[in-house]
Amino acid sequence: MLQDKITQYTAEINAFSTANADELEQFRIKFLGTKGIIKDIFDEFKAVSPEEKRSLGKVLNEFKQLAEAKYQTLKEQSEVADTSTDSGLDLTLPGEGFEVGSRHPLALVRREIIEIFNKLGFVVAEGPEIEDDWHNFSALNFPEEHPARDMQDTFFIRKGGENGDIALRTHTSSVQVRMMEAGKPPFRAIMPGRVYRNEAISARAHCFFHQVEGLYVDENVSFADLKQTLFYFVQELYGEGTKVRFRPSYFPFTEPSAEMDISCTICKGDGCQMCKHSGWVEILGCGMVDPNVLDNCNIDSKKYSGFAFGMGIERIANLKFEIKDLRLFSENDARFLKQYKTSLI
Ligand code: PHE
Repeated sequence: MLQDKITQYTAEINAFSTANADELEQFRIKFLGTKGIIKDIFDEFKAVSPEEKRSLGKVLNEFKQLAEAKYQTLKEQSEVADTSTDSGLDLTLPGEGFEVGSRHPLALVRREIIEIFNKLGFVVAEGPEIEDDWHNFSALNFPEEHPARDMQDTFFIRKGGENGDIALRTHTSSVQVRMMEAGKPPFRAIMPGRVYRNEAISARAHCFFHQVEGLYVDENVSFADLKQTLFYFVQELYGEGTKVRFRPSYFPFTEPSAEMDISCTICKGDGCQMCKHSGWVEILGCGMVDPNVLDNCNIDSKKYSGFAFGMGIERIANLKFEIKDLRLFSENDARFLKQYKTSLI
């Protein structure tokens, strides 16, 4: 009888396998527990005849060892698989994802501006941020005593010298001069870049900002071309139906000169803080390239004419994203920057 039980349970133990801690505990209670099968069998063993005891004793001990060994092996295996119990590391949890970065809002706007002008055939031109007097001022028809040349507006690096004063460029018009000096018309380019002006830093002014300027020089370029180009640009950037208007202005390097306003993108012309309740906001300066500038760059002003324009990227971004404080653009606060996620990479 006892021998039969042992044979049956031996088969059961040999067939048993689990990686589950609960099932293994059930196994331990069933066979090795204080009220378990082995305890029962040993109790029964006490009652068998002395001859049977002799033959069964060894079998019984082997059976007990089998159950204990099975339990130990499965326990060790389950501990390797389930490391959470001791190290707190759970290898089955999903990994940490990579957070995708975001583009700086000024970079986003610059790219959008470039893409629009690319469609019109404008290429991108770049130049140095440290400029000499000729490229930043003189070639652009700035009179000797023009206030922009003043220490108050310009960061000078060196006064005097072979090519005149050396300064941080105050506008990217200097790149227009470099381009015209180096090539032959027609020119159709935009010049994005950082520019510097000696201003006290506040919510509305900074000592540096970013511009995109544009230049188109060819035979028979007229103010109508300028208007149509900028009108197209505004429709693309702010949506169809955005109105434009031109106000007479003055720049040494353009004649005639104008400032361009657009109908307020925030209130659609009804009046708000952004447009100071006028319904219009100024976004850029423009004009027909002054013949003196063409001549300064060795371009025949009798044959060629051109238009130029320049805008601040911060201003455009401000109208797009309603960022009221200019300083946010250069503080590198991740909480601010992260808001401008884009699908563009
Ligand atoms: N250079 C001018 C500025 O920095 C902008 C401008 C460019 C105006 C070209 C007219 C033509 O304000």
